[in-house]
Amino acid sequence: MSEERVKVGILGLDDMLGGGLIPGSICAIIGTYGTGKTTFSLQFIWDGLTRGERVIYISLEERESRIFTYMKQKGWDITPFINKALYVIKLDPTDFNVANNRIKNELPKLIEEVKASRVVIDPISLFEDLFDTDSERRQEMYRFIEGLRDRNCTIMMTSETHRDNVFSSRHGLIEYLSDTVILLRYVRPSDLTDVHLALEVVKMRMSAHSREIKPYEIEQDQVMVYSEANVF
Ligand SMILES: Nc1ncnc2c1ncn2[C@@H]1O[C@H](COP(=O)(O)OP(=O)(O)O)[C@@H](O)[C@H]1O
Ligand SMILES: [Mg+2]
Repeated sequence: MSEERVKVGILGLDDMLGGGLIPGSICAIIGTYGTGKTTFSLQFIWDGLTRGERVIYISLEERESRIFTYMKQKGWDITPFINKALYVIKLDPTDFNVANNRIKNELPKLIEEVKASRVVIDPISLFEDLFDTDSERRQEMYRFIEGLRDRNCTIMMTSETHRDNVFSSRHGLIEYLSDTVILLRYVRPSDLTDVHLALEVVKMRMSAHSREIKPYEIEQDQVMVYSEANVF
């Protein structure tokens, strides 16, 4: 592989991605509540911090303090990084004007200012919910995401799934706008009584990647993707 990859920091997943994400690309993590979107995106952030990178985490759901607590619970010593390399920003997902202005105008400036190489927006679906019409949402999201490209910064956005389709993001948009799409979901095998988590890389522009569906588990301190195991 000639080009260096940006590791997500989840061993089996990075293997499925052919080594990691393409630098400067945009990755969508799609899954319903509890599938681990926040956990995956924090792992990506922490991986960056351990490599001496600067990272921005935009949270539309959890308060800053909860994000810090969650990271500390994982045994990660984030204290020296806070506001030096780790910037966590909570956005109110009910105030369209403020959220829209901060995401569209302030985020690109902040990326430049702090020289961030990784940015997470968790979940982007709460931001997408704010638009009045589908066409406005489509236009604005396209513009926003194109504006984030080519900034030497790798972006990860998470999204809830569509109400009627667990294979689609809430608004069916970001999977088209993103370069890489990772789908997280629950699998309930008919002959078993327990529930499993499984992931697949459904799309990765300009790269070979695994098309297999692999089980994973969220543990106290890490996510384990069992890339040798089969779900079905
Ligand atoms: N410290 C932990 N140890 C084990 N499992 C955890 C831990 N923290 C979270 N989880 C599991 O991860 C799930 C939530 O993951 P989260 O990343 O918040 O999902 P999402 O953002 O998709 O809603 C929980 O429902 C729980 O099953
Ligand atoms: Mg979450």
